[in-house]
Order: sequence, then C-alpha cells, then structure tokens
Amino acid sequence: MDKLLIKKLIKKALEAKKMAYVPYSNFHVGAALLANDGTIITGCNIESASYTPTICAERTAISKAVSEGYKEFVAICVVGDNPKTFPCGVCRQTLREFSKDLDVIIANDENDYDIYTLNELLPHSFGPEDLLEKEDLND
Ligand code: THU
Repeated sequence: MDKLLIKKLIKKALEAKKMAYVPYSNFHVGAALLANDGTIITGCNIESASYTPTICAERTAISKAVSEGYKEFVAICVVGDNPKTFPCGVCRQTLREFSKDLDVIIANDENDYDIYTLNELLPHSFGPEDLLEKEDLND
C-alpha cells in the first residue's frame, strides 16, 4: 500500500477516535475504512449504559459504509488507547463478510504501525462463500 495513503488512514482513524463515546470503559477506539473507490469511512466506538448494545469502532465504520452503498474495501486502520489495538473477534468476522484480503493497519501513530491481512487475523474463516457453495449444491 502507498505510504501516503496509509498515513492518511491513520490520521483519519485518530480523528475518529476523538469522537469515541466511552463513559464506561474510557477506552477510545477509532477506525478508518478505505473503500475500493478511494472513499474513506470512519467510525468510533459507542457504548451503552445497557452494555451489550456497545458497538466497536470497526463495526461503526462498516455499518456506515455499507449503509451508504460501499461493499468493497481495501484496508481498515484501527487506533486505540493501547499502543497497538487489534480488532476484536466480532469485528474480524464482520469485516470478513466483505473481504478476506483486507489489509488491517494497526497503528499507534503515523510513523508506528503494522499491517496484517484479515486472513492472518482470522484464519480458516467462515464466510459468505460457504453458504453460497451450499446453495449451489442444492441446485
Ligand atoms: N473496542 C473497539 O471499538 N474495537 C475493538 O476492536 C476492541 C474493543 C471498544 C469496545 C468498547 O467500547 C471498548 O473498546 C472496550 O472494550
């Protein structure tokens, strides 16, 4: 991936992190999702007094993106209060729905980041193809 684009994604994720609504955990997370047409969609975590409705930054970004018509993604950048904050299991599976090869940029700041593929973070995954193949068998 282009270094300038990576830095831009990190900057956007850091900006989104400032919007985190986290009165219970006080753990701020921001995400910036890059769609295949170059559009960047951001998200932050949003907590709830009832706890379970809490949504992670990554899923906020993907919900915004899909609801606005984006379904193909190239990369996602995640920044959190830990120097390196990785997506939780639920977010990995949610991202998997749309891509297996997504680049996942885990960043601390614009000069300190690591890149993984979603396949590395969620190996042997179950995805849409599994159900589509099952449907094909029933044809
Ligand atoms: N969180 C995220 O936003 N993304 C992750 O992948 C890890 C966890 C949020 C959820 C909750 O608001 C807070 O971090 C503590 O779990």
